[in-house]
Amino acid sequence: MLYSLLKPLRSPRFASIAFGLSTAVSVGVWFCLTAPKSNQAIIKSKSDQLGSQPSQPNTPHELPNNPQTVIRQAGTFRKQGRDIEAFAEVQLLSNDEATSEPNLLEQIELAFDQSRYEDALDHLAKIGLSSPDDFRKMLNQGFRFMVERQPSDADPLFHKAQLGAMALAFGGKRPEAEEVFAETLNRIARLRRINDLRHRMATSVNRPEIELERSKLLNAESFAPVTKHTETEPGIRLYKDKCSHCHGESGAGNGRAARHLFPSPRNFLGQRFRYVSASNGLATDSDLINVIRSGLPGTSMPAFPELSNREWDLLLPVLREFHRLGVEASLKGLALSKDELDDLLAAKTRPTKQLDIPVVPNDFEAAIRRGELLFQTTGCRHCHTHPGASQYASNRIRHFDESGHPILARDLSTDPLKGGESLDDIYRRIALGIPGTPHPSFAGSPSETMDLATYVLSIANDEKSPSTNDTRRRRLVDSSFKGQP
Ligand code: HEC
Ligand code: HEC
Repeated sequence: MLYSLLKPLRSPRFASIAFGLSTAVSVGVWFCLTAPKSNQAIIKSKSDQLGSQPSQPNTPHELPNNPQTVIRQAGTFRKQGRDIEAFAEVQLLSNDEATSEPNLLEQIELAFDQSRYEDALDHLAKIGLSSPDDFRKMLNQGFRFMVERQPSDADPLFHKAQLGAMALAFGGKRPEAEEVFAETLNRIARLRRINDLRHRMATSVNRPEIELERSKLLNAESFAPVTKHTETEPGIRLYKDKCSHCHGESGAGNGRAARHLFPSPRNFLGQRFRYVSASNGLATDSDLINVIRSGLPGTSMPAFPELSNREWDLLLPVLREFHRLGVEASLKGLALSKDELDDLLAAKTRPTKQLDIPVVPNDFEAAIRRGELLFQTTGCRHCHTHPGASQYASNRIRHFDESGHPILARDLSTDPLKGGESLDDIYRRIALGIPGTPHPSFAGSPSETMDLATYVLSIANDEKSPSTNDTRRRRLVDSSFKGQP
């Protein structure tokens, strides 16, 4: 069974998972063998798992008369690689029978064989396994059966956990899968130790510490996972999986890929978030979600549209925590009381209410003209190309961000807008500035700001010029050689 599951596993990163599972199984088996009472039961349950071979596998079969036979038959077809027949077989089941656990387990195996991992996850949810907590409860139950020397009851539970963890791993829920693997290995380590202590108690009498350790391991409390999960721990795993190769393990923007990227990945410790909507210039949760979900066009920051609500709940505290740590470190050494420090920390990390956005002007053409005048007279044009200017006009002045990295002002016609292309988005960029970059916040009235936004929107081409890390870097170097105006 294990090997049919492992069939789609080719990449080495799953090797450790597979190793974990085969250890789980072999320990399960090993434990069964050390439990003298129920060998009969084990042999029976093992042969159930393997499925009985049909007497004449290649001849059309009679309509089987009970659901167990149908399911077993489907399993046999599947193991012979006859997936279509296996699938047809389970269609014979009535609705009630189809939602029975043995059928759903068979369906999960079949879904694996056909690489339908989403379906495997659906079936898994139907047998009540969707969160790591469901798995934990089931593993605890299996553990108790083992301790009480009822391996035939424990076996199906471990089998389910194993299938479930594979469904999670392949269904794209790798952090949850790893949690289940870790929990399984944790139970196995405990069982081993308990078994070991039992043998030692038999040979070394009058050793109270052995009994003490054993009773501690059996104690209900010690069934909790050994690795204490702090609030952010599963989030950190998710972050490491998806973000750290660019943003760095500790969020300092120094992941392994970072040196190839221009602009560089954000350093969450030392740099501010840039695409903000709160009136105090800080990013709200939805600002972060917007950036991460849609990515930043014209940079290497990819879009992550696939993240689930639970994953957002895990990821955002990690980013906030990195940022808080960075701000805290920057405040060290200031001669301030603890209260003053706390206030300052809050002011630098807690977004206030959303910036109000005025209604869109209905005299669009006139607004564009007013905006253009403001653009020419308030200094925007010193940094930004306006249509018809030379390609590098925007970069005649060398700009640096808050970390001293060179930065390109945007060509507002042909470069993609990173913070969104709607009028509201552009309004926010102009009114609040882009924190941590030379792009300032505009001090005019809301209606003037809206006029500017309308103008910027009017000069933005639909087609943006494509760029790579290399061309962006080259553009910067070239513009530097052109020198100051
Ligand atoms: C392939 C590299 C790469 C990966 C992977 C990546 N990022 Fe980024 N990220 C970047 C770059 C580059 C920037 C900076 C772009 C810029 O400054 O214009 C960035 C910027 C950001 C910002 C700053 C947004 C702002 O408003 O200033 C956040 C937040 C962010 N990334 C979060 C994440 C998260 C969370 C993940 C993982 C789910 C992730 N990134 C994965 C490259 C990456
Ligand atoms: C001192 C130079 C400077 C001035 C003055 C300036 N900007 Fe910028 N602007 C920048 C830089 C640099 C960026 C790119 C920041 C980045 O990539 O993170 C930028 C980016 C932008 C963007 C892109 C936002 C996005 O979502 O990508 C807009 C729009 C913009 N500026 C409009 C304006 C307007 C309107 C004015 C005048 C009120 C102005 N800028 C004044 C330097 C400047």
